[in-house]
Amino acid sequence: MTCLLSASILSANFATLGKECEDVLKAGADRIHFDVMDNHYVPNLTIGPLVCQALRNYGIKAEIDVHLMTQPVDRLIEDFAKAGASVITFHPEATDNITHSLSLIKKHHCKAGLAFNPTTSLHYLDNHKDQLDEILIMSVNPGFAGQAFIPESIDKIKLAKNMIHEHKKNIAIAVDGGIKLDNIDKVAKAGATIFVAGSAIFKTKNYKTTINAFRKALLAG
Ligand code: DX5
Ligand code: ZN
Repeated sequence: MTCLLSASILSANFATLGKECEDVLKAGADRIHFDVMDNHYVPNLTIGPLVCQALRNYGIKAEIDVHLMTQPVDRLIEDFAKAGASVITFHPEATDNITHSLSLIKKHHCKAGLAFNPTTSLHYLDNHKDQLDEILIMSVNPGFAGQAFIPESIDKIKLAKNMIHEHKKNIAIAVDGGIKLDNIDKVAKAGATIFVAGSAIFKTKNYKTTINAFRKALLAG
């Protein structure tokens, strides 16, 4: 099973974002996790498609996984696809027509994902399993970096894994929020294969040392 580490740039230094992405990828991260907050769906405001395009122009070639915490989502899906997104994930509560929004992502040849808040039911996974490449289980309430991992997320990951297995689907489980060296093994054991980490990487001095430690914890788990 391939495990992917997706570095959440929400905790990076925005003044030198291109270099931060370059450094974290060189240090061994597989993907860039790009958190889009609109001060409406969540009480925080971050970055948009212009910044995604700027990272592509700077030379970032790795997958950029765009996590939309916005309402609505359709116009941003188009804008981010054009700006170089590889994966686009949105929250099902934030659109009137989930099937349409997922189709829009696929129309632009991006991978499609649904994000589940801690209180969001997994029935959306059931209903949209044929359109999904991955799901993003939020292990914190979305809006801010550096929050503590909610322990109940482990059972939710297991449940999602069973549902995907029952349906014989190839949908990857990503987990976002509070991922640290001391819990990544449990999250992997529960069934996740994509790990989003922000503060645990960018708030350390040596990204390579941190990412190597994450890989070691995954192997040991
Ligand atoms: C939270 C964001 C996360 C956040 C994770 O709403 O979606 O991607 O950056 O940050 P850490 O890893 O610090 O919990
Ligand atoms: Zn995120």
